[in-house]
Amino acid sequence: MKPGSVAIAIMAAGKGTRLLSKHPKVLQEVGGKALLAHVIAAARQVVAPEHIYVIVGHEAERVRAAVEDTGVEFVLQAEQRGTGHAIMVAQPALLPYETVLVLSGDVPLIHPETMTELLRFHRAKRAAMTILTAEPRDPGAYGRVIRRKGDDVSAIVEHKALTARQTGVREINSGIYAFAARPLFAHLGKLGTDNAHREFYLTDIAAILVKAGEKVVARKAADPSEVLGANTRMELASLDAWLRARKCSQLMQNGVAIYRPDTCVIDAAVEVAADTIIEPYVQLLGNTRVGPDCRLRSYSVISDSTLGAGVTVRPGCVLEEARVADNAVIGPYSHLRPGSDIGEGAHVGNFVETKKTRLGKGSKANHLSYLGDAQIGADVNVGAGTITCNYDGVKKQTTVIEDGAFIGSDTVLVAPVKVGRGSYVGAASCITEDIEADALALGRARQVTKPGWAREKRAAQQKAQGAKPRRS
Ligand code: UD1
Ligand code: CA
Repeated sequence: MKPGSVAIAIMAAGKGTRLLSKHPKVLQEVGGKALLAHVIAAARQVVAPEHIYVIVGHEAERVRAAVEDTGVEFVLQAEQRGTGHAIMVAQPALLPYETVLVLSGDVPLIHPETMTELLRFHRAKRAAMTILTAEPRDPGAYGRVIRRKGDDVSAIVEHKALTARQTGVREINSGIYAFAARPLFAHLGKLGTDNAHREFYLTDIAAILVKAGEKVVARKAADPSEVLGANTRMELASLDAWLRARKCSQLMQNGVAIYRPDTCVIDAAVEVAADTIIEPYVQLLGNTRVGPDCRLRSYSVISDSTLGAGVTVRPGCVLEEARVADNAVIGPYSHLRPGSDIGEGAHVGNFVETKKTRLGKGSKANHLSYLGDAQIGADVNVGAGTITCNYDGVKKQTTVIEDGAFIGSDTVLVAPVKVGRGSYVGAASCITEDIEADALALGRARQVTKPGWAREKRAAQQKAQGAKPRRS
C-alpha cells in the first residue's frame, strides 16, 4: 500500500429498473451528457484516470464503450448482487490503495471540491468510513444516516427498513463514501443479504465497522442538490433542469443575454461570447460555439456548429455541424446541414437547405432553395427556388458557382457543372453544361405567344353556355 494513495470506485453496474428503459441507467443523459460521464469528469479532477475504477455489469460493453476515451479503468461485476457486492468484486483493484472514494454512477452533480473536502475530513478524523450526507427538504426513498453523537455514525438504514422512530431522520446517505481500504476489506466479507432485495448492501458496512471498533463518521454536503440521485424519470428531469439552469446562469455571468433561460436548452460544452442575445426556446447543443454580438431568435436548434461575431439566426432554423462567419444572416426557417460553410455577411433565407456547401462572402440565397455539394463564391445571387441536382443516382457531384454570378430564379443546376465568374443564368433554366465567365446562359424552351388566343377561347365558351344555360 502506498501511503496517501487514493482510488476512486464508481458503481455503475446496475440496470436502473425504475426507469423502465432499454438503455442502462448510467447512460441516461442529463444536461446533454450521460450520468456516468458527469461522474467521471468530476472524479478526474480529483485523481488521474488510471486510479478511477468504473464497476460495470448490466450492458457492460455499451457502458464501457461510451466512456472509454476518458482513460479510466474498468471492473466487471458480471452478476449485480448489490452495492456491497460491487465493491467486493473490485477488491483486487482497490486493495493496493490507502483510501478508496466510492461514488455512484447515478449521482451526477457531485463537485470535485466536495470530494476533496470529504477526503480531507476523512483523513483528519482518521476514520475507517466517512459518509457524505445531505439534508434535502424531502428525504424521499434515500437511506438514512443514524448518528450516535457528533460526527460519529452508528448505522445507515435503507428506506424500506426504517423503524417508526427512524422515519423522522432527515439526514440521507448520498451513496458517496471515503474508506480506509484496510478495514473496509477486512470486514467486507461480513455483509449479508438479509434485506428487502436479497442483495449485499454496502450501507451495512457502517454498522459492521462500528461493531468492530472502527470509526465511522458523517460529513454533510453544503448543498443537498449536489447529491441528488437519478432513479426515476422525474428525478432525471429535475437534474436536467438544474444543469440547464446552471449553464444559463454561467453564460449570463459571462455577459450573454438570455431572455427566458427557463425555456432554453444549452449543453454543458457550449460556448457563447458576451453581448450575444438568446431569445426564448433556443437549443444550443453539443460542441456549439457562438461569437459575440449575435442574435439567436426563437425556436432554433443549433448543434455542433460554429458561429462568428454578429450573426443573426432568425426564428425556426436548424443548424448541424455548420460554420457561419461574421455578420451572416440565417433564416427564418433555414436548414444548414453538415458541411455548410456560410461566408461573412452572407444571407441564407426562408426554406433554404444547404449541405456540404460553401456560400462565399456577401452571397445570398434567400428563398426556397436546395444547395448541396456546391462551392459558391463571393457576391453571388442565388435566385428563389434554385436547386443543385447533386446526386446522379450513384455519386454526389459538385456544382461550382464563381464570384459575382447571378442565378435566375427557379434554376436547376445539374452537377457536375460550373457557372463562370460574373455570368448570368436566365430564370427557370436547366443548366447541364459549364458556363464561361461573363456569359448569359438560358436553358429553357423559348416562349411562344399566340395573340388573341385567350379572347377566342372565351368567346367559344360563352357561345356553348348560351346554347345550354349553365346551372349553378
Ligand atoms: C443507494 C444506497 C442508499 C442511498 C442511495 C443514494 C445502498 C444499498 N443504498 O441506494 O442508502 O441513499 O444509494 O443515491 O447502497 N450498482 C452496482 N452494482 C450493483 C447494484 C448497484 O454497480 O449490484 C450501482 C448502480 O448502478 C448505481 C449505484 O450502484 O449507480 C447505486 O445503486 P442503486 O440501486 O441506485 O442504489 P439506491 O437504491 O439508489
Ligand atoms: Ca441510486
